[in-house]
Amino acid sequence: MHYELAPSILSADFARLGEEICAVETAGAQYLHIDVMDGMFVPSISFGFPVIKAIRRTSSCIFDVHLMVEQPERYIEETAKSGADIITIHAEACTHLDRAIEWIHQTGKKAGIALNPSTPLNVLDYLLEKVDMVLLMSVNPGFGNQKYIDYSTRKIRELRRMIDERGLQTDIEVDGGINDSTIRTALEAGANILVAGSAVFGEETSKNAEKYVKLLRDYQEICR
Ligand code: DX5
Ligand code: ZN
Repeated sequence: MHYELAPSILSADFARLGEEICAVETAGAQYLHIDVMDGMFVPSISFGFPVIKAIRRTSSCIFDVHLMVEQPERYIEETAKSGADIITIHAEACTHLDRAIEWIHQTGKKAGIALNPSTPLNVLDYLLEKVDMVLLMSVNPGFGNQKYIDYSTRKIRELRRMIDERGLQTDIEVDGGINDSTIRTALEAGANILVAGSAVFGEETSKNAEKYVKLLRDYQEICR
């Protein structure tokens, strides 16, 4: 199993976005978590494709694009063209989820399904074999720097069991409230891609990113 830190640029200083991304990349982060919000599926609006295209020119990280938008199928093509490597859409925002996952794969990108905290895992039942990643929201989506919802741990554990029982290699990404006091809990429950926004970006971006990259590398070593 690979363990990855996915720094969420939502908490970066947008006035120095290039520098902030360079800092986490230099610290060893292989993933970059990119939150697109439409002001409909979630209350907030973040940024869109021109920003993703611009940072694509400066970074060779895996672009993990989390679409928090209604009817995300409208934007699959453009997300792919903007430089995404993984495109994750919310089950709650998409009526024809099976078809949307196929569209993502047709663009040549990896596909993920995201679930809000209260959405049960059974919506994944028929699609689990078709996706590369499941993103479990451990806060209600829309904002950075919120508190990890405790019942997420049981959900991560149950999803890991589902994936293992079916003999799949699907990644489990956990998003929201990941910091020094929650990262181990999420890992031990079975997550392998850990999003961290406010715990990474700030006064000491490089130092924070280095700390979590090391923690995940050490964890991967122990699990070998
Ligand atoms: C929230 C976003 C997250 C957010 C996480 O809706 O999907 O990716 O940036 O921020 P932290 O790590 O601060 O909870
Ligand atoms: Zn996110």
